[in-house]
Amino acid sequence: MSPGNGIEQDPRITALVERLGVGPTLTGGILLVDDEPFNLRVLRDLLEGRWTVHQASTGEEALAVAVAGAVPLDVVVADQRMPGMSGVDLLAELRTRRPDVAGIVITAFADMQALESAINRAQAFRFLRKPWEPPDVLQAIEQAGDFVAQRRTIGRLVELLARREEELRGSLDRLRSQQETLLHLERVSTLGRLASGIAHDLRNVLIGLRAAEGELQQLDVARDLREFLGLGLSQVDGLLHTLQTLREYSRGGTLELALGTVEPGRLVDDAVAISRMDLAFRRRRVDVVAPRDLPPLQADRQKLTQVLVNLIRNALQATRDGGAVGVRAGILPGGEVELVVEDDGPGVPPSLRERLFEPFASGKGELGLGMGLYMARLVVERHGGRIAATRGALGGARFEVALPVAGDGARGARGAGDGEGGDDGEGRSS
Ligand SMILES: Nc1ncnc2c1ncn2[C@@H]1O[C@H](COP(=O)(O)OP(=O)(O)OP(=O)(O)O)[C@@H](O)[C@H]1O
Ligand SMILES: [Mg+2]
Repeated sequence: MSPGNGIEQDPRITALVERLGVGPTLTGGILLVDDEPFNLRVLRDLLEGRWTVHQASTGEEALAVAVAGAVPLDVVVADQRMPGMSGVDLLAELRTRRPDVAGIVITAFADMQALESAINRAQAFRFLRKPWEPPDVLQAIEQAGDFVAQRRTIGRLVELLARREEELRGSLDRLRSQQETLLHLERVSTLGRLASGIAHDLRNVLIGLRAAEGELQQLDVARDLREFLGLGLSQVDGLLHTLQTLREYSRGGTLELALGTVEPGRLVDDAVAISRMDLAFRRRRVDVVAPRDLPPLQADRQKLTQVLVNLIRNALQATRDGGAVGVRAGILPGGEVELVVEDDGPGVPPSLRERLFEPFASGKGELGLGMGLYMARLVVERHGGRIAATRGALGGARFEVALPVAGDGARGARGAGDGEGGDDGEGRSS
C-alpha cells in the first residue's frame, strides 16, 4: 500500500523502521459487511485484485470473523443500516477487540445526523455517503490501509525499543561489574607491591632475629624463652610466606602449593600453638579437638595452617574475655576432612555476608584489612576444597573448611608444576 493520503512519511522514521527490521505490517485483508447481497457484490468487484476480500451479511457475523482472527484483516467496511447490529455498533465493538483494524461506515444521507453522536464511540476512520463513487471508496480504503500500517509500525517500534532498552540496561550492568573487577584488580596489584616491600623489610628483621636466636642457644636462658622465640620466628616465617603468596597472586599467577602428606590433627595443633602467642588466646576458653586418626591430606601444610590461624584470630577478635572458641578437625559424611573454627561472638555482620570472602571485606575499620578470609578461600579452593560461614552452635560465627583427602580423585590439590595456569574457580565457596 503506497501512502495515498499525501502525507510523506518522515525519512527518519523510514530509516529507523529499516534499521530495526520492522517488516511489512499490512496483510491485504478486507472485510465487507452488508445485508444486501447486491451491495456486497458491487464492492467486491471493485476491490478484488487489490485486496483479499472477505464478507459478512450481519454485524454479528462480521464480529465473529474479525475477533476470531481466522482471516488476516486490515480494514472493515460496514453498511450502517443492517438488521441487528448497526455499522457503528460493529465498529464500536471492534474498537476494543481489534484496535489494529480501521473501520469505514457507509451510510445514507438521512443517517448522517444520528451518526455525529456515534463518531466518538465508534472512532470510524471514515464515513462514506451513499451513493458512493468508486474513486472515493478506493481512496478511503487506501488511506485507511496507510493508517493501519502506521499504527502497527508504531506498535512494533515501541516493542522493539522496549526490548533494546532492556538490552542496553543489561550491557550497562555488565559494564559496571567489569569496572568493579578492574578496580579490584588494581587494588590487588597495589597490594602486591606493598607486600613485596613489607616482605623485603621483614626478611631483614628475620635475619637479625635468627642471629639472636643462635646467640641465645649458647647462653643459659630459660627453655621457655627459647621456645617462645622459636615459635615467634616460625610465625614470622609464615608471614613471609603469606606475603609471598599475596605477591604471586597479585601478579596474576597461580597460588603454588608445596604439597606433602599432612595429618589434619597436626594442622590444628600447629595453628593453635601459633595462636597461643596472641594475648587474647589466654583470655578465652578455647576448646581444641584434634583427633589423630583422620585420613591424611595431600596439602600445603604451611598455607593450611595459616588459614586456620586466620580463622582463629578472627574468632579471638570477635569474642570478649572469657568467651568461647572451638577449633576442631573431623570427618564429613562424604569422606572429606573438615576443619571448623567457631565462637560465641556476635556473628558475621549481615552487611558483609555477601562479600565475606572477597578482598577488602572488613568490618573492623582500621583494624582489619579484610584479606584473611580472602586468602583463606584462595588456599582452600586451590586444594580443591570449600570454605563457608554459618551460624554455629556456640551462637556466633562458624567457619567450615572441607578438604578432599589424599588420593581422592580429580578434586584434590594441585601443587607447583602441575602445569595448569590460572585460578580455574573450581569448588565454589559460599
Ligand atoms: N568469627 C567472626 N565473627 C564475626 N565476624 C567475623 C568473624 N570472622 C570474620 N568476621 C568478619 O569478617 C570480616 C572479614 O574478615 P577477614 O579475616 O577477611 O578480614 P579482617 O579480619 O577484617 O582483616 P585481616 O585482613 O587482618 O584478616 C571481619 O572484618 C569481620 O567483620
Ligand atoms: Mg581476619
